[in-house]
Amino acid sequence: MNRKVIFAALIVFLVIVVVAWLLASCPAGNEIDPGLTSGSAEAQKQKEITIRNVTHETVTYRIKPFNSDAQSRAMTLEVGEIERFPGELAMDVFFEQGDETITYRLSPGTPYSFRYNENYELELYEGSHGRTDAEDLAPWVPTPMIVVEKMLEMAKVDKDDILYDLGCGDGRIVILAAEKYGARGIGIDIDPQRISEANASAKVAGVEHLVEFRENDVMKVDFSEATVVAIYLLEESNALLRPLLDKQLKPGTYVVSHNYSIPGWEAKEVSFVTLKSEDGEEHDIYLYQK
Ligand SMILES: C[S@@+](CC[C@H](N)C(=O)[O-])C[C@H]1O[C@@H](n2cnc3c(N)ncnc32)[C@H](O)[C@@H]1O
Repeated sequence: MNRKVIFAALIVFLVIVVVAWLLASCPAGNEIDPGLTSGSAEAQKQKEITIRNVTHETVTYRIKPFNSDAQSRAMTLEVGEIERFPGELAMDVFFEQGDETITYRLSPGTPYSFRYNENYELELYEGSHGRTDAEDLAPWVPTPMIVVEKMLEMAKVDKDDILYDLGCGDGRIVILAAEKYGARGIGIDIDPQRISEANASAKVAGVEHLVEFRENDVMKVDFSEATVVAIYLLEESNALLRPLLDKQLKPGTYVVSHNYSIPGWEAKEVSFVTLKSEDGEEHDIYLYQK
């Protein structure tokens, strides 16, 4: 065979290989490019956006990277499912509500949940975690200290109490109960960062001998020794927790809940207070007795 022919065949072969490689590495036209995905698998996981469906119906929505010309992708999320979007880019989510298109911008590294608002309309809220093995009961939002003080006062906390905060955040309720009343306390939270903050605050407050913080799913813990339980979760989360409260708590135990009632425990409600925090926001406190 002529050398020119062999050379031409080699060139053609190389061009085919390069074109095939380029096609394989480019996303298809209407696919979402999740953005830069550099770093280890763990680092990428920390930057992923998760969306969970905490409603009672299948949710359909569209999503696309923020500031991109890519077409939005239509998505369906079944009840209880979690969708994951790896990458380092913000994403825009759209869904229909009657005649309106609702839009949200999602930040990388943040978990979100489709939930109903108080008018039973679909909304996309920030969540606490994107773990599939645990319920996302509420995002991290601290109870203002003035409300914490009132919650402890209403539950008549004293040095003989064992107070559990189910979803304890930075541990403020457990720590104040120990500092002010000498009560023992256990805080449970699924977020390791909150547990580190709680331990650091307990040290600063000098109450480490009275309190303990555990990284765990509150749906999987034994809190039966509690004499007071504090919660600041969402109403649907209180509904999920109620069978555990029913099963585990001793008669007479106080349960004090910030902002959200416990559905089905109406007969156990012993008092209710509304107060304003420094920023003028109103807070409800429900006190129940098992
Ligand atoms: C609204 S914050 C309340 C924090 C604290 N109790 C307070 O009142 O300041 C809710 C907390 O629940 C935690 N959480 C959510 N789901 C949880 C779960 N399945 N198990 C344990 N903690 C959870 C979140 O990480 C968050 O810190």
